[in-house]
Amino acid sequence: MPDVSMIGVNDVTQRLVAELSLRSDEEIVRLRQAVRDQAIARGFSLIDQTKFVTAASELARNTLQHGGGGTAQLHVVINGARVGLRLTFTDAGPGIADVERALGDGFSTGTGLGLGLGGSRRLCDEFAIESQLGNGTTVVITKWKTR
Ligand SMILES: Nc1ncnc2c1ncn2[C@@H]1O[C@H](COP(=O)(O)OP(=O)(O)OP(=O)(O)O)[C@@H](O)[C@H]1O
Ligand SMILES: [Mg+2]
Repeated sequence: MPDVSMIGVNDVTQRLVAELSLRSDEEIVRLRQAVRDQAIARGFSLIDQTKFVTAASELARNTLQHGGGGTAQLHVVINGARVGLRLTFTDAGPGIADVERALGDGFSTGTGLGLGLGGSRRLCDEFAIESQLGNGTTVVITKWKTR
């Protein structure tokens, strides 16, 4: 499982391929499709496509349900010979009071199972979260193509 690391410490080149609004269920479907398309275009295995799309879907739902809506940026990332995909979810919602607790399985302030954040973290290679009470939440996930 990747560590929770600070945002912006990665020394990689990134190219923005899509920026999508997340304000409705339809826009979540659109994001899932964009992520799937890019994962296929980058040559991800079916299992890695599914892992990244699943993580994207959970975080997009959090952005909508807990963050009051926001945006997702999709980047292609390159680090030497490695190619991957990175998603940055941003909202200006209420923020998370205790991030470590929110990452634990079974913690939910809503009606969910509380598996979204921790599950997304396990499905990706890199996971970063920054949240400030009253100011919103940013989550960044990265998955590298397996060679
Ligand atoms: N973008 C966000 N803004 C504010 N709070 C958030 C955000 N994302 C997650 N949280 C908080 O973290 C908790 C855990 O999130 P997680 O996705 O793990 O579970 P959940 O969304 O409650 O349930 P589910 O299992 O359906 O995803 C949420 O209940 C919520 O309190
Ligand atoms: Mg969730």
